[in-house]
Amino acid sequence: MSILLKGGVVVSAKDRRQLDVRLDGETIIEMGTNLAIGESEVEDVTGCFLLPGFIDAHTHLELNNGKGSMGTADNFYTGSKAAVAKGTTTVIDMATPSKGSSLKDCLAAWDHLAEGNSSCDYTYHMSIIEWNPEIKAEIKAMIDAGITSFKMYMAYDNLRTKDAEIFEAMQEIRTFGGMLGIHCENGDMVNEMIAKFVAEGKVSPHYHPLTRPDSVEAEAVERYLMIADLADLPVNIVHLSTKRSLEAVHRARERGQKVYVETCPQYLVLDEHLYDGPDFEGAKYVCSPPLRSLEDQAALWAGVIEGTIDTISTDHCSFNFEGQKTIGRTDFSKIPNGMPGVETRPELIYTYGVAANKITLERMVGLLSEDIAKQFALYPQKGVIQQGSDADIVVWDPEKSGVISAATQLQNVDYTPYDGFETKGAARSVYLRGQKVAEEGQMINEKKGRFVFRTIGQNK
Ligand code: URP
Ligand code: ZN
Ligand code: ZN
Repeated sequence: MSILLKGGVVVSAKDRRQLDVRLDGETIIEMGTNLAIGESEVEDVTGCFLLPGFIDAHTHLELNNGKGSMGTADNFYTGSKAAVAKGTTTVIDMATPSKGSSLKDCLAAWDHLAEGNSSCDYTYHMSIIEWNPEIKAEIKAMIDAGITSFKMYMAYDNLRTKDAEIFEAMQEIRTFGGMLGIHCENGDMVNEMIAKFVAEGKVSPHYHPLTRPDSVEAEAVERYLMIADLADLPVNIVHLSTKRSLEAVHRARERGQKVYVETCPQYLVLDEHLYDGPDFEGAKYVCSPPLRSLEDQAALWAGVIEGTIDTISTDHCSFNFEGQKTIGRTDFSKIPNGMPGVETRPELIYTYGVAANKITLERMVGLLSEDIAKQFALYPQKGVIQQGSDADIVVWDPEKSGVISAATQLQNVDYTPYDGFETKGAARSVYLRGQKVAEEGQMINEKKGRFVFRTIGQNK
């Protein structure tokens, strides 16, 4: 039976309109004012906004961090439930091969993790952690398999490649019109500084951000953009966290480069003082790039407001405090890097962005959904409420308030970096391809997620 969402305000990245929306099967079939109920089942959404399902373009729902085979606390089952219950209907997860593995085998492994377990729709960025003729030949194969975006690293010894290899990969990706995102930090400098601090007995979480200062990120961003300029490839910068990096982006754009910038909620609402918490609490915030200064935070908000930052995703990569983060009690460099966040992004950005009058709701729709869909070849199947699109809809109640808490979260991890944060606005119900899958922040219909096949060119 079709479903009629009646009395709500439909929001896009451009505007908002009072429209009823009818869903049938998996798609939106009709939109208009005062639509007749007919045979449809009605959800009265008066007082609510209808937002296109949010897309998180940066998750590590399952990641082995390469240090002593430590796996993330969440997996596809738990992470996708946490995502969709709060409004994220699609994730682009980082499929990460082990050394020596083919991209094809990695894709099969990620399909195995996600298929039948995911409660939201999903696709992957394929990580390229080594470069050789076999991997080069697989770039086209990935695009043919619906994976149009790739990820590389300039830091982490188990993941990073050389600049020349990045350059070669860029040229191959450009041949087929794919998208590349890179983790920008100078890995050699990070290693040097870790060795220095540890040798001096400076081993608490306080030293984590000192091994990765803003220059470590900005240098890598600048180098990445110069290499991209040589390769003539539009590129994405993931989890950009500093004012200096944003300045490097401005310079590249001034010389005519197409650069996409992603930041994450943690860089917008948390800051570096948290590394100095008592009882090793600072370990909870160990991620890379690290949390930054209030000056960086202000520069990032300015970028979000002005539009120099394109998207906000989470870099969700959850490790428990007890038993995982605590492995680094006597050496911060052993603390697994990453923080949970796939569940909290919509409420945080609404509260600290929209309700705080920093950004409009239209801008939030762009940052969390529409512009991500356009960048990653998901649009107009995803990222918009219009006739013919997937019926991924968040019924957003602007009046609902809450408090984020580890005790009540759906993420399968023993803490949240946002514990005690008060929120304003929340998803009242969530539709995934026409089925109501969540209500009042809880799952009512799980494991309905499906792989989204992406095609280059389907993104304008
Ligand atoms: O600390 C982080 N961000 N861990 C996840 C992997 C990455 O760097 O994106
Ligand atoms: Zn990264
Ligand atoms: Zn990441």
